[in-house]
Amino acid sequence: MSRNYRLLVKNAKQVVLICNNGEKYLSKHGMQNLCVIENGSVVIGSDGLIKAVGPAETIRAQYSEASFDRVIDATGMCVLPGLVDAHTHPVWAGDRVHEFAMKLAGATYMEVHQAGGGIHFTVQHTRAAAASDLLTSLSNRLVRMQRAGTTLVECKSGYGLELQTELKMLQVIEEARRSLPINISSTYCGAHAVPKGKTVAEATQDILQVQLPRLKQLMSAGTLRVDNIDVFCEHGVFDLDSTRSILQAGKDMGLNINFHGDELHPMSAAQLGAELGASAISHLEEVSDEGIAAMAEAKTAAVLLPTTAYILRLPQPRARDMLDAGVIVALGSDFNPNAYCCSMPIVMHLACVNMRMSMPEALAAATINAAFALGCSQTHGSLEVDKHGDLLILNAPRWEHLIYQLGGHQEIIRYVVIKGNVI
Ligand code: NIG
Ligand code: FE
Repeated sequence: MSRNYRLLVKNAKQVVLICNNGEKYLSKHGMQNLCVIENGSVVIGSDGLIKAVGPAETIRAQYSEASFDRVIDATGMCVLPGLVDAHTHPVWAGDRVHEFAMKLAGATYMEVHQAGGGIHFTVQHTRAAAASDLLTSLSNRLVRMQRAGTTLVECKSGYGLELQTELKMLQVIEEARRSLPINISSTYCGAHAVPKGKTVAEATQDILQVQLPRLKQLMSAGTLRVDNIDVFCEHGVFDLDSTRSILQAGKDMGLNINFHGDELHPMSAAQLGAELGASAISHLEEVSDEGIAAMAEAKTAAVLLPTTAYILRLPQPRARDMLDAGVIVALGSDFNPNAYCCSMPIVMHLACVNMRMSMPEALAAATINAAFALGCSQTHGSLEVDKHGDLLILNAPRWEHLIYQLGGHQEIIRYVVIKGNVI
């Protein structure tokens, strides 16, 4: 029998809405004052959207339990919005465990890359892989992310560096979008490295004249959906001028600009992103004060990646300076063969300990602000009426346990709900 509503989550000890005034993002003050209901309930309709959030007694008075397909009694538990991971590279073949050993022994990320390893190693294996195998490994990784509480994830291409493999990766992401409940924002990252044997100028021309035009055709025909464009702007990879022309061409096709900048060297990538109206810039370990000011002014989100700084022993991204300056700070796992982490709870924990964010700041950065970085904060990132019914139910007396407990989130996340369906 079909009923009116899909899911009632009732009597939760805490419901963390994040915000409740339709804000598209939170800056420092809002992040420090998250909206939390003590003893609350959430109603999700048959369309998967939130119909009501409020005190348990108010919801009880307004909705009959008989009209729900499913009721979860969350007594003693906490409800939070599903987590948003604003930066991942989840489509690839081969792994780089041997390089982890090299880096532990002292090799830098760029030394490994310039010796033909790193991204080049993964490109070689990903080019050779069948799409079906890439889809299987991608699906397994996305399921691990879902179990760790991620309900919206950005997924990049970027281990092809030529048309055929970049398209193969984007089509695999599209297939995962159709077959899995997790929400996906897809990113074309053909400028992730300069292919072996090519100059930066040649690689840039290939992207501008071959890859992007084909992508545009497929997008116009409705065969492929792509949301964002990315470039690895770095010394020895794509310089500022080539980055500018690729990002501008992507923007002209309607893609959101969301790129890697100021990671290993100060490149003035933050200023470039602000100038181009970028939605987001990731990494920013080496961002300057001028770059921070430009991002604050342009409302370009900073996607900080604590796993990368940790694994590569880089300087920590300047989260506090960014927050103080009014930058919109978001978080991502940067899941990739270099930073093998599927868990946003671990990312938030690292952000708190290493980047000195508070737990409310980290949660806002991993929900509403990460959704903003992906251009999705009108529909995702907080528990507000008309947004997607994506939430976590924690078996813990306070929501902060999700961050406080390092690892073991399988034990603490009792339910993951996407569009009102328990997955
Ligand atoms: O965000 N810095 C560039 N890209 C990735 C790493 C990709 C790789 O090493 O395979 C990052 O950390
Ligand atoms: Fe990355």
